[in-house]
Amino acid sequence: MTAVLTRRSEQLLAEPAPGDDEFRYLLKGAAMAPDHGRLRPWRWVLARDEALASAADALAAEAPSQDREQVRRKALRAPLRAFLVFAPRPGHKVPEWEQLAAGSTMAHALMLLLHARGYGSIWRTGRLCGSPALRELLGLAEGERLLGAVDIGTPVRTGPPTRRSAPELSGHLTVLTTR
Ligand SMILES: Cc1cc2nc3c(=O)[nH]c(=O)nc-3n(C[C@H](O)[C@H](O)[C@H](O)COP(=O)(O)O)c2cc1C
Repeated sequence: MTAVLTRRSEQLLAEPAPGDDEFRYLLKGAAMAPDHGRLRPWRWVLARDEALASAADALAAEAPSQDREQVRRKALRAPLRAFLVFAPRPGHKVPEWEQLAAGSTMAHALMLLLHARGYGSIWRTGRLCGSPALRELLGLAEGERLLGAVDIGTPVRTGPPTRRSAPELSGHLTVLTTR
């Protein structure tokens, strides 16, 4: 409960970010998320340093000229960008929506694990999800879909994360009773 109530999407992220091995370790945990058929219909592509700059350049090159600098800057806001690729198993008896649900569940688990370890993250979508240049750079195969980038680093905050109160759930929960 502490982890879920204190995790926030962090806008400001700086070094350190987890290294590749630490990311792999956390992903082993996140990959235990519920997944019908155990298909793991997703993969991550990590970018930092020059690779991150190349990804930002690819995205910026597609933007209208007046937006390029801002698009590039926004793509470089965290030391680690983890691109989440949905790789559904076509024609599988587990329908695609369930495979997408499995990928989302895994991503949330990963964000909670990052948070519990002191890292911050934010899932970003928008322009990058439909970018042909980024598809090419990341090596997406036909049938794969970019679900976004999870920006990761250490939150730049003055205080500890604020603990939120649990949301008001009326209208989101029904307890079925027999008539
Ligand atoms: C699939 C998905 C896509 C998101 N895309 C963006 C985005 O493009 N930009 C952004 O600032 N936040 C994005 N977010 C983060 C949400 O805005 C954030 O989770 C929401 O505001 C609640 O804030 P919290 O995570 O701190 O509870 C995305 C979250 C999800 C799950």
